[in-house]
Amino acid sequence: MNRTSRVTLNPAFLQEIKEDHRNFYRLLAAARHHLGRWGSYWRDRTPRAMVDLLERVRDRLAMHFALEEAYGYFEDPVWTEPQISIAAQRLRDEHRLLYGELHLLTERATKVLYRETSALRIPGICADFERFCQHFEDHELRESDLMVRALYEDVGVGD
Ligand SMILES: [Fe+2]
Repeated sequence: MNRTSRVTLNPAFLQEIKEDHRNFYRLLAAARHHLGRWGSYWRDRTPRAMVDLLERVRDRLAMHFALEEAYGYFEDPVWTEPQISIAAQRLRDEHRLLYGELHLLTERATKVLYRETSALRIPGICADFERFCQHFEDHELRESDLMVRALYEDVGVGD
């Protein structure tokens, strides 16, 4: 049994956090819809609304990840399958990357708002937000898959 700093998931808590965060997923879906449209109709819009939306999503994302890390993951389990531990570590590390991605997008939009960069950048910001959403979705899918695997390991069904 290897006890060197391992990470694993707490599937029950992680699932509960995801269920409690339906409002966050709804906000994300709305932002995706609006920014998808802004990518084409940005000339009719004010960048203020785009910045507000990105800031709201970014702040809720920070809360979502903070709760997942506090209750959905834990370090140094008595034992966990090494493959689960490696995948859990990777997924937890992705939180910082995903938050950073969205934070940079928000900063880029803020620069447009304060006319530090051209409004011509808006379609690119919207396209990158869509890319961020795909990265986040992919992360959520892999996290859900790992939750199931960790659950099976917990009840001794896994091989
Ligand atoms: Fe996560």
